[in-house]
Amino acid sequence: MSRELKIKAAQAAFEFVKDGMKLGIGTGSTADEFIRILGKQVGKGLTVTGVPTSERSAALCREVGVPLTTLDETPELDLTVDGADEADRDLTLIKGGGGALLREKIVAAASADMVVIADDSKLVDVLGAFPLPVEVTPFGLGATHRAIEKAAESLGLSGPVELRKGDGKPYLTDGGHFIVDASFGRIPDAKALSSALLEIPGVVQHGLFIGLASTLVLAGEGGITLLRR
Ligand code: 5RP
Repeated sequence: MSRELKIKAAQAAFEFVKDGMKLGIGTGSTADEFIRILGKQVGKGLTVTGVPTSERSAALCREVGVPLTTLDETPELDLTVDGADEADRDLTLIKGGGGALLREKIVAAASADMVVIADDSKLVDVLGAFPLPVEVTPFGLGATHRAIEKAAESLGLSGPVELRKGDGKPYLTDGGHFIVDASFGRIPDAKALSSALLEIPGVVQHGLFIGLASTLVLAGEGGITLLRR
């Protein structure tokens, strides 16, 4: 996705922001563009506060002057704006490519509305071409890994389930957990997979966002398309 499309999607999402709003602020390169737009508008007098979904987004918010709060101080938010790795027409999402899925889901669930920003290549008929990120505890990794495979098999899903690494070491989330990426190719029943994964004790959370997004803003060469739920 070109930077230009990310900026266009972020600008379209900014239309949903009203003065005084308490915002959830997403993570990723598209969410970064939204943060930059927000920073400029705060500089011009917009009054908002935001809960960032990662340390990375928190740092960018501080850099561009977006005032921050926490879910402890501000447990209910008006609107979250975040990116996605895939979305279907029901606005079910795969998120977590950037490793922030746990905080992203907590923040989205605390928000009255979630607007998702992406380029139109991320809209799919069936989720799953993008590997599903699953956040797991480091303790018991082998057993959790096997349990994820078995849960998938019970639903007729198969494919590599791989520990995410960076610099040869397991990737560590902001919460101190690991991520395994499950390449099932197709996830025809996101709810069934979600329930099966959440029954595994070592699974902290997964990147299927079901019933959280209210609007999908898609930027493409032909302009902006809005899908609503
Ligand atoms: C981070 C995410 C991101 O929103 C997702 O990976 C999309 O990122 P980008 O806008 O860079 O394509 O879920 O955990």
